[in-house]
Amino acid sequence: MMICHCMSITDTDIHRAIDWMRAADPDTLITPGKVYRTLGKRADCGGCLPLFIDTMRQADSLSIPMHLRGLRRATTQGDAYERRRQGHRLSQSGTQE
Ligand code: FES
Repeated sequence: MMICHCMSITDTDIHRAIDWMRAADPDTLITPGKVYRTLGKRADCGGCLPLFIDTMRQADSLSIPMHLRGLRRATTQGDAYERRRQGHRLSQSGTQE
């Protein structure tokens, strides 16, 4: 089925590109942009992107590698002070006279 009419990309092209990327690098995160680049093309109007992404989701090899899951949560939760010392402000340092 034709997915991108501007660049003549079919669902088979997308699935093959995803399979190739996963085989070449098992740890890669696969994005629509990488699929376009793998096919040697680039999006033009972008009108196909919702269908393009739906087609990508149907691929078995699209899944995110287990060790890369939850990285965003791990980096944004738990460290509320972003590694700043608690007393980084003069008003909180307690050294004022
Ligand atoms: S239909 Fe895919 S970029 Fe236009």
